[in-house]
Amino acid sequence: MEIPAAAADSVVALEVFRAAQPFPIQHRLAWLKAQIGQDATLVRSALGQPLLRSHPGLHFSLSHCNGAIVYVLARSFVGVDIESVERPVNWRRLATRVLSAAETLAVSSSVRPELAFLRLWTAKEALGKADGRGFQIGFRGLDLSAADWSCAAKIALEKGVFALLELKIPGFVGALALAQQGVKDADGFATL
Ligand SMILES: CC(C)(COP(=O)(O)OP(=O)(O)OC[C@H]1O[C@@H](n2cnc3c(N)ncnc32)[C@H](O)[C@@H]1OP(=O)(O)O)[C@@H](O)C(=O)NCCC(=O)NCCS
Repeated sequence: MEIPAAAADSVVALEVFRAAQPFPIQHRLAWLKAQIGQDATLVRSALGQPLLRSHPGLHFSLSHCNGAIVYVLARSFVGVDIESVERPVNWRRLATRVLSAAETLAVSSSVRPELAFLRLWTAKEALGKADGRGFQIGFRGLDLSAADWSCAAKIALEKGVFALLELKIPGFVGALALAQQGVKDADGFATL
């Protein structure tokens, strides 16, 4: 897919694959090699974040869902998340764990609450991945009710500021988060 204009400075490559099953690890390594022009080594942080230790300064994120897989390679810490719009979701039950009170109100008054929920969910997952702590950033405490990421929004987390963007993929709800200058990872490496 085309890289959203607001992410063009940071994102090196972004690709969506239509696939029913997750791909084997070799697929992402081959994709990274095609983008970078060299073999890449991926390791995982203790919390599961993929880290491109062979190429400091480059960062990788991926998301699998029913029907698609997205890979993204960027020059800053990055997180991507997608969900199928057809994913059945009991949003009222999940909301108590992952939405703030203001978000719950906004979702319940939305014309399509399931979609509104998935939009917030993918945004929070993308931010959690870019931060590296995943769910552990505390989804309920992260209130996005006043944020508009249809083009791009700046979201402040504990580690610093992240740009959040909506990914427009037909049939899917998606979000991309990119660390802004100065955000550090667990090892003290920072986005320049
Ligand atoms: C990342 C997370 C939000 C999962 O997302 P999901 O919607 O279930 O699945 P997705 O397909 O969208 O994303 C999965 C990918 O996210 C990446 N990922 C996993 N943990 C991550 C983290 N902490 N930070 C960044 N990316 C992470 C991985 O690449 C993973 O795919 P892979 O296992 O094939 O490499 C969730 O697993 C999480 O918060 N994990 C980290 C913290 C945690 O509580 N871990 C518990 C296990 S000990």
